[in-house]
Amino acid sequence: MYVCICARVRECEVRAVIRCGARTEEEVGDACGAGTGCGSCVERIGELLVEEIGADTLAA
Ligand code: FES
Repeated sequence: MYVCICARVRECEVRAVIRCGARTEEEVGDACGAGTGCGSCVERIGELLVEEIGADTLAA
């Protein structure tokens, strides 16, 4: 299933870059391009970050 339609990035790819060290939505974008287009998927990327590393990166 695609998380990011703009960059055609699948959920498994986002999870993989998080497991390889991405810790913020920006770092996920740098690693695979997800979230760098319209931005509508950024919230979902944040949810995946929480699921994978248990960190709510949107809370500042
Ligand atoms: S769907 Fe991810 S940036 Fe547009």
